[in-house]
Amino acid sequence: MGFEQAWLSYRMNVEAGEWKGISKIYADSRNPIMKNAVSELQKAFREMMGIEPVLCSDSREVKADTGSICFKLDRERKAEGYHIYEEDGNVVIAASSECGWLYGVFELIRQMQMESSIKGMNIEREPVMPLRMLNHWDNMDGSIERGYSGNSFFFDKDEILVEERIVTYARLLASVGINGTVINNVNVKDAATWLITDRYFEKLSQLSEIFADYGIKLFLSLNYAAPVELGELDSADPLSEEVRAWWKERMKLVFTQIPNLGGFLIKADSEGRPGPFTYGRTHADGANMLAEAAEPYGGLIIWRCFVYNCKQDWRDYKTDRARSGYDNFIELDGTFRDNVILQIKNGPMDFQVREPVHPLFGALKATNQMLEVQIAQEYTGQQRHVCYLIPMFKEILSFHTYAAEVNDTVEDIVSGKTFKQTKCGMAAVANTGNDENWTGHDLAAANLYGFGRLAFDPSVTAEELAGEWIIRTFGKDKEVRETLLFILMNSWRAYEMYNAPLGIGWMVNPSYHYGPSVDGYEYDRWGTYHRADHIGIGVDRSHHGTGYAGLYREPNASMYDNPESCPDELLLFFHHMPYDHRLRSGKTVIQHIYDTHFEGVELVDEMVKRFEGLEGKLPDKAYRRMLERFHHQKEHSREWRDQINSYFYRKSGIADEKGRKIY
Ligand code: GCU
Repeated sequence: MGFEQAWLSYRMNVEAGEWKGISKIYADSRNPIMKNAVSELQKAFREMMGIEPVLCSDSREVKADTGSICFKLDRERKAEGYHIYEEDGNVVIAASSECGWLYGVFELIRQMQMESSIKGMNIEREPVMPLRMLNHWDNMDGSIERGYSGNSFFFDKDEILVEERIVTYARLLASVGINGTVINNVNVKDAATWLITDRYFEKLSQLSEIFADYGIKLFLSLNYAAPVELGELDSADPLSEEVRAWWKERMKLVFTQIPNLGGFLIKADSEGRPGPFTYGRTHADGANMLAEAAEPYGGLIIWRCFVYNCKQDWRDYKTDRARSGYDNFIELDGTFRDNVILQIKNGPMDFQVREPVHPLFGALKATNQMLEVQIAQEYTGQQRHVCYLIPMFKEILSFHTYAAEVNDTVEDIVSGKTFKQTKCGMAAVANTGNDENWTGHDLAAANLYGFGRLAFDPSVTAEELAGEWIIRTFGKDKEVRETLLFILMNSWRAYEMYNAPLGIGWMVNPSYHYGPSVDGYEYDRWGTYHRADHIGIGVDRSHHGTGYAGLYREPNASMYDNPESCPDELLLFFHHMPYDHRLRSGKTVIQHIYDTHFEGVELVDEMVKRFEGLEGKLPDKAYRRMLERFHHQKEHSREWRDQINSYFYRKSGIADEKGRKIY
């Protein structure tokens, strides 16, 4: 399938005269990263301005010139940082490494697309989070777990694809500062278990080389039970000498055969995946065994904390899935090797439209940590509904954990500020596939773009990111910009309004997680209950209930524990409340449910109406793709509204104050 260039389409016309005055690029482009950087720069000038700056290798002439771009070595700068400034009419990109120059080039192109002035330009940046990664859940048969934009462009029929598209993929990632990617699903089975064998080394090396030339490290998801499933040993016990020796040999082989390999991501003892629990060992035992083996090659072991009992009985009110990540890992704090990073989902459940921040953030003090978010919109409209997630990520990052006097937010923790760590950062479950536009919904690309930019520089606002993404993707037209900005900035709020209310989550159809089904998971084994009866709804996670609220540091623990101080949007996550309880907003729970569901649909109608006004102003293909999705969202948001309102009207017997139609 063909593919578009997303925000690197360089189709807009940059008119600013200053930029047109650039006629030379001074660079030594023998290094492959520099070669890519320079050719990107030339492409941008050619496509946006129809000019082709000449490439010169001798930078001694620069001083005598104006209207050139040159690269300068600045050893003081951090490896991925850059400084772009104007000097006598020339643009200088200073960095200490090729990666810094590459990022500098993409920054300059962004400035060009935004038509910033060259005169007096002075931009100094370095990434705030050391690791900025994508996690693809791609299977080797070509399908994608929770994929909503076609099939995998990495795999098909158990083979690895190395296609032209990969280069554009790498450019897109590098352009927003993403420096690592895990290409296969965390649920490692069948052929994927063999990725660490010579069956796949050649193709993996090719991929890894393409990525390396864009400053990106290749990572793989690993099957914890590989020694057994590859038929070589009959145990995967992390304390067995034989198993340890096997991994040492294996890591040696893999790291020498695949240059630039960053390491491995592991989902163990979770949702049926094997892990150290089978042998009565801890997650530290498991992770440390792999880390020890990967250590000589600088390899990282990224170990996921998404560990919970997925065979719960709904009658059991004591077991709380929300507690499980914390309970499984807290005692292991400080026992992991230095090249282990724990990867923690943003919330304690599973990427719902609203969840509290995972209580492990701020609790773990002596362990490398990474934040995992999901831009694949599994529970937020599956890339058929528009749902711009950056405002949610901003909230998560700015959450105060109170783990330290200063620098105590989630952002501080995963940037390494709080506990002085260098192996930390943020990962997003990817939303890409082989669809022509990469992300199914054209507007979902704003999540990919925003994620990378945010991990590099969390100080940018969600609105700024949306705004620049729109300009870079669709050009400068004011109406286009204002309309799409309105849609993006209201989309998460709208989705939350017609979805499960007040932080309770779920209420989706089991297994594929799309569309409303209030009791879909209620009597199932997954630990995801809303506990609605005729009097009220919500899970009691206070000290009267599961005690989950107490896992936070003060004052968060008390704030969540008390229904009077618990924020409305999370009330039902923490408390079981009667339908006539008055929220802090002044509305009753039941009236809030009715109102938000009606208003959420009205907001969608407004978004769709405004979008339709853009006909003729957007590329036709993109317009039609989006229009089809918007029409679906309009219908589907009504289904959410009616299912949820009818369910709670029938359960509670309380009528809508405004007398609207509820079935
Ligand atoms: C969710 C998702 C699964 C995925 C899992 C994970 O439960 O539905 O498809 O495997 O998260 O993060 O491991």
